[in-house]
Amino acid sequence: MKLYLDTANIDEIREATQWGVISGVTTNPSLAAKEDEDFNTILSSICDLVDGPISAEVLSLEYEGMVKEGRALAAVHKNVVVKIPIIPEGMRAVKTLSSEGIRVNVTLIFSANQALLAARAGAAFVSPFIGRLDDIGHTGVNLVRDIVDIIDLHDLDCEVIAASIRHTEHVPAVALAGAHIATMPFKVLKQMFKHPLTDLGIENFLNDWKKAEKSLS
Ligand code: G3P
Repeated sequence: MKLYLDTANIDEIREATQWGVISGVTTNPSLAAKEDEDFNTILSSICDLVDGPISAEVLSLEYEGMVKEGRALAAVHKNVVVKIPIIPEGMRAVKTLSSEGIRVNVTLIFSANQALLAARAGAAFVSPFIGRLDDIGHTGVNLVRDIVDIIDLHDLDCEVIAASIRHTEHVPAVALAGAHIATMPFKVLKQMFKHPLTDLGIENFLNDWKKAEKSLS
């Protein structure tokens, strides 16, 4: 399973890319709205930093608008993936954009039926939102597993991005469920490194080394 960052913050992306673990980035209008710069500038900067799929979302809800916005976003860089919500007009736009070689990530997926529709329309990626399902008392990870099983069983050419990841426990859970990609906030990615025994182990190694140095001198 690949790891993507779910952010539009350049500082976070720059720091995470230095760790060598990031294969792509996803953004959405809420994340972009938190940043000061205009979105096209942000998108270009992300593409300069990360050599992998970068999802950027359309704002229109009508077919013509989505196609126009999608083409403009895709023109920013070859790695841009157009993000479109799972609505009927959106699937029309997915069909058109994918036939032009533009990859689409269908977002706001909350059911296996929605994922199947998106994959049939030609989506390269589908994004089930697991945290938001957990929020309403469902188990988001189960949806990821169902979608992956359907894609495998019917040999659909579509990757599953487990999105709306809220904590570190979500990450191995979606990896075991077969997600191709997990996209997560910077905070969660950073927490993945942490274990108290790692900190304690480093402290002990350094202390033992210092003691040994003392006894030699
Ligand atoms: O990629 C979708 C993700 O950003 C949604 O996350 O935490 O707003 O549910 P969240």
